Amino acid sequence: MQAFNKKLLVLGMGGTIAGRSQAQGDNVGYRAGELPVESLLPRGVNDVECLANVQIETRQIAQMDSKDMDHATWFVLARAVLAACADEAVAGIVITHGTDTLEETAFFLSQLFTPSKPVVLTCAMRPATALSPDGPQNMVDALCVAANPSADGVWVVAAGAVHRPTQVAKVHPYRTDAFSSGETGPVGVVEEGRLRWLHPAGGNSFARTPSTAASRQFEGSSNLGPDANALLARLESQGLPRVEWVVSHAGVTPAAVTTCLMAGGEGGAVRGLVLVCTGNGTFHQCLTKPLRDAEACGVWLRRSTRCTQGSIVVGATSVDWPVAMPLDPVKARIALSLDIARHDLAGLTPQATAPVPG
Ligand code: SIN
Repeated sequence: MQAFNKKLLVLGMGGTIAGRSQAQGDNVGYRAGELPVESLLPRGVNDVECLANVQIETRQIAQMDSKDMDHATWFVLARAVLAACADEAVAGIVITHGTDTLEETAFFLSQLFTPSKPVVLTCAMRPATALSPDGPQNMVDALCVAANPSADGVWVVAAGAVHRPTQVAKVHPYRTDAFSSGETGPVGVVEEGRLRWLHPAGGNSFARTPSTAASRQFEGSSNLGPDANALLARLESQGLPRVEWVVSHAGVTPAAVTTCLMAGGEGGAVRGLVLVCTGNGTFHQCLTKPLRDAEACGVWLRRSTRCTQGSIVVGATSVDWPVAMPLDPVKARIALSLDIARHDLAGLTPQATAPVPG
């Protein structure tokens, strides 16, 4: 009987990595989230040097196309990750996930808490039934990172690269190297099962500019440590505070703000708006009044940029709304939602009422 010295847990969420097509050569006409997570472990995975004595357990958390990801599923996953992190027998966790919202799930987990062991999200661009699937190698690479004690924190591993959740984004709809960390590049690479850091690892926190009256920056998403359970319990009972985008574009009208704030439906009143700004954090002048009205009614505002590289550079005299630095609009929405939830939990702010659009 094989003697194991380490246990890794693989949590299955579905995605193309678990996708199945009718015709074997079809890389696009397939259904995501079809094959059980245990079938995604390549045969002979324990032959890889760093996995030689590693026991790999699997658990199916969801079986979905990640375009349909919802907050409730995030909370179920987060519970499973928190439990595995608290379990001394588990050395690291791999999460198999669809590529379409992988960066959102990774960012959500990384901002909920800073794990003391590796939590590695991986994926595939080709279904498991492809003639040459990319999932098996991604799975092996992710397992190798999860088995590496220097990799504590949340990471995305795809196409041989290790990315930080704060930086990574899906940038291509078809290529197998579909993810990019933009101008910072990946934080590491996996080569023949060996993890090589390109930058100092240092967990998932990222540089924050201290806030000043004139230049309010992204302040939230601190390491919650033991409070992660309390925050998650609140999210499970109350949901994530609703945050929507307002995109500034040629021809935009004030209705972009007012209709958004009046929207009913699931998720309750809109508590926050992320302004998807032009260029260096600017927005159409016609949005100023409805945004000020919204702020006066207690709606939280953050600015992000439509630019796909760099982040907003704030001047010393800037008086506009805080910048979600260095987050893209997708992650800025999650960060703001978690900040509102955290403030609610701490009893720092009263429940904002739905603003009356002016
Ligand atoms: C999905 O996101 O679940 C489908 C697409 C993919 O995984 O590449």
